[in-house]
Amino acid sequence: MPESRDNRPLGLTRRQVLGIGGAFGLLTTASLATAAALARRPATTGAQLRSTAALPPPYQVPLPLPAVARPVSTAGGTDHYDIVQRETIAEILPGLTTRLWTYGGTFPGPTIEARRGRPVTVTHHNELPVPTVVHLHGGRTPADSDGYPTDLVLPAAWPDTPHTMPGMAGMSGTDGHGTGGHMTDPRAVTSRLKRDYTFPNDQRPTLLWYHDHRMDYTAPAIWRGLAGLHIVRDDTEDSLGLPAGPREIPLMITDRAFTADGALSYPSLDPTLRTTPGVTEPHLAGVLGDVILVNGAPWPVHETDATRHRLRLLNASNARHYELEALTEDGRRLDLVQIGADQGLLATPVTHRTLPTAPAERHDLVIDFATAPIGSLVHLVNRLGTGRTRDVMAFRITRPATDDSRIPPVLATDLPDWHRQDAVRTRDFAFRAGRMNGGHGWLIGGRPFDPARTDVTVPLGDTEIWRLIADVHHPVHLHLVGFRILTRGGRPPLPHDAGLKDTVSLRPGESAEIITRFDGYRGRYLFHCHNAEHEDMGMMANLEVV
Ligand code: C2O
Ligand code: CU
Ligand code: CU
Repeated sequence: MPESRDNRPLGLTRRQVLGIGGAFGLLTTASLATAAALARRPATTGAQLRSTAALPPPYQVPLPLPAVARPVSTAGGTDHYDIVQRETIAEILPGLTTRLWTYGGTFPGPTIEARRGRPVTVTHHNELPVPTVVHLHGGRTPADSDGYPTDLVLPAAWPDTPHTMPGMAGMSGTDGHGTGGHMTDPRAVTSRLKRDYTFPNDQRPTLLWYHDHRMDYTAPAIWRGLAGLHIVRDDTEDSLGLPAGPREIPLMITDRAFTADGALSYPSLDPTLRTTPGVTEPHLAGVLGDVILVNGAPWPVHETDATRHRLRLLNASNARHYELEALTEDGRRLDLVQIGADQGLLATPVTHRTLPTAPAERHDLVIDFATAPIGSLVHLVNRLGTGRTRDVMAFRITRPATDDSRIPPVLATDLPDWHRQDAVRTRDFAFRAGRMNGGHGWLIGGRPFDPARTDVTVPLGDTEIWRLIADVHHPVHLHLVGFRILTRGGRPPLPHDAGLKDTVSLRPGESAEIITRFDGYRGRYLFHCHNAEHEDMGMMANLEVV
């Protein structure tokens, strides 16, 4: 495999390199090259909120499994769903109630079960107090249903403001957080009260997720509960013999913080999420909670038999990274056998002892509980956490059982095989902190998001290499396409970089090369950092497929 031996990060000037990190880091070209600097990489990017609510002991609350949505119609070869976005009150912490923004009244929202090639249309109704827009993350979706951040569904009590919205990137003022400016997007297609989103599901089977994507307000909207799962399946995958039925478990991992009365806490400058985007200064690098929720429950426990289980893992946290390991009570580490990545099955399984996962990444894992003592717990632990954020959830092994599942040595033969020489061009993007209209921002190539500016134009069908470089942690996500990771830090990719990805986790000071073919649909798409706070504070750009 061709490998870059050039230590100079991606042709940036020395001055640009020294600027990387801004107030957040002390990384320089020289220090980047040393192992000592790499070892000093902070484990997280972001600042943790402290809950004032009484927190439950771990492994008391049963793991909820999100309900599967029922279609209102299956006529004409399309499954049609209706989802009402509305406020609800839920009991997340035992004995306390929490107001949430939800898809269909639950967090996570209802899971959409889709078959490859069979379209799904979801009519989303907005009964929330603010505009919303739905994006299917990882979906190969025509642009008009991809949830562009200004394609808003306005609620009943919202003024008609076509093509203009308060925008962080357009703001004036000395701290960058004033309410002065407006951002204009002449291409925005807004609607009122509801909108149909059509997803062809014409893609490799995988775990996708849908979430809010409103410009400037994605992070607090997801934090309040606007996230759900969407699974694409096909006959080929069904026939592999992987653990299925109750032995296939979706796990949406998030972190949150709670005030004493049970409310979610979040450091919004404007808690109404109407006029002023952004978070308070200590949280500019990202918002971390001190309570780990899996499928919306704090440090839950799930009862299973002593067999193989397929865990469909999604890190839906705004900013928190995890490095997961599964520990038995007698101190053994169970293998995490990865069978799939963001965009579906790997070619062959990859066995991990510990598995890093960044915001928006999905990992399809098989874990075998056969050797865990009956009656004991297997803990899923985050090695990057401290104190209570080390715990994620546990499995209680209830009984032995026969297991006819298998992990085939070859999982898939349809992975795209793009080679460096297939690329018709190479682009460089630096993801780093910077100044944005007098305040702090997160920039791509030195610029904050502007919906009216096309940053990248790609002819449909072209293959490209993108070289990405980061100052702090930036999980970089492309809409529309899956990609493969060619190199990381100038070296071959890591074991967890295998397969087809739509989000690549860049660590502090790190670069990566990705390769993809821009096919599927023409239109306006995005790429951005999936640290949701970074995304809201400018770290997003337009990708126009023509
Ligand atoms: Cu999950 Cu544009 O993102
Ligand atoms: Cu996406
Ligand atoms: Cu970022």
